[in-house]
Amino acid sequence: MQNLGIAITGSGSAVPTTSLDNQALTKLVDTSDEWITTRTGIRQRHVANPQESLSAIATAAAKQALEMALLKPEDVDLIVLATSTPDDLFGSACRIQAELGAKRAVAFDLTAACSGFVFGLVTAAQYIRTGVFQNVLLIGADILSRWVDWQDRRTCVLFGDGAGAVVLQANQSDRLLGFELKSDGTQNGSLNLPYNASGRELTPGIEIAQGTYQPITMNGKEVYRFAVQKVPEIIDKALFRANLSVEQVDWLVLHQANQRILDAVADRLKIPQQKVISNLACYGNTSAASIPLALDEAVRQGKIKPDDVIAASGFGAGLTWGAAIFQWGR
Ligand code: UT7
Repeated sequence: MQNLGIAITGSGSAVPTTSLDNQALTKLVDTSDEWITTRTGIRQRHVANPQESLSAIATAAAKQALEMALLKPEDVDLIVLATSTPDDLFGSACRIQAELGAKRAVAFDLTAACSGFVFGLVTAAQYIRTGVFQNVLLIGADILSRWVDWQDRRTCVLFGDGAGAVVLQANQSDRLLGFELKSDGTQNGSLNLPYNASGRELTPGIEIAQGTYQPITMNGKEVYRFAVQKVPEIIDKALFRANLSVEQVDWLVLHQANQRILDAVADRLKIPQQKVISNLACYGNTSAASIPLALDEAVRQGKIKPDDVIAASGFGAGLTWGAAIFQWGR
């Protein structure tokens, strides 16, 4: 019989070498360690230097995940790279495929901002459930430092760079217990990294638009309100689909945007603080990387153990949000 269930069998993570603490940011913008810590919980973040690349940190995270899953690069059928900040706008997944030597794998990028990892997890799962692929490498990676306005104190203190990866494998029992994904484009203007172009006449009567992407803009209060309302709702829905109660959740692994959001979501769901995984103090908001980065750390620290039930939820630009309930390991 074909294995059409899904198991998450490995994880890995990597961040750029340079870290930037809150104190260092006070030299760039009018802010303070006290403001950043109390409003967000963030103490430092990692930023990529010009020699580092998204592909390199994503590859490093992917190698660890493959090692944990006891897979060789040649075993991988599919690589999904969730990112909004590829090294190349045509995509970075194929470069990672080459760097890993995953010769058989098909590779592509997926863009869903900070929801990218959860959207990628569900996407990857479909290929396994339909029997098309057996071994999938899912990477969430972002280098938002490239796109932050370092003069804007409302955003530059929040973000950091990083990569996290997991391996999904076909398995007899299905460990992806439930999921739910949502989008609301009517709120698209709340968080953007927009392309700004001006018209250029190519030949008489034919005009095209050329420009560049502009730094991140965010209505922080709107996004905060959205997250605190929608994330508990979608976790509830995913738990319903999984036929589980909130008491059966062992670990809440949310997109690491703000400690206050983590606390408010846990509070609304009545999940005790000891079950909430948080590492944003060290990394800030690493967008698509934040969930696998937090997951990998918790697995390697021995907190998350085989069979533990994890409720993961991502939310962000789009607006998009999603939740996945899964058990760790085979
Ligand atoms: O990954 C995508 C998801 N993104 C998010 O989840 C972000 C969600 N939003 C948030 O986390 C919070 O809204 C922020 C952390 C972005 C802001 O916290 P807040 O409590 O909503 O602060 P605020 O925007 O209401 O600003 C309060 C004050 C303002 O000053 P006035 O107008 O009261 O005089 C800001 O100008 O704090 C000021 N402020 C700062 N002060 C010092 C804003 N940024 C800073 C700063 N340092 N870095």
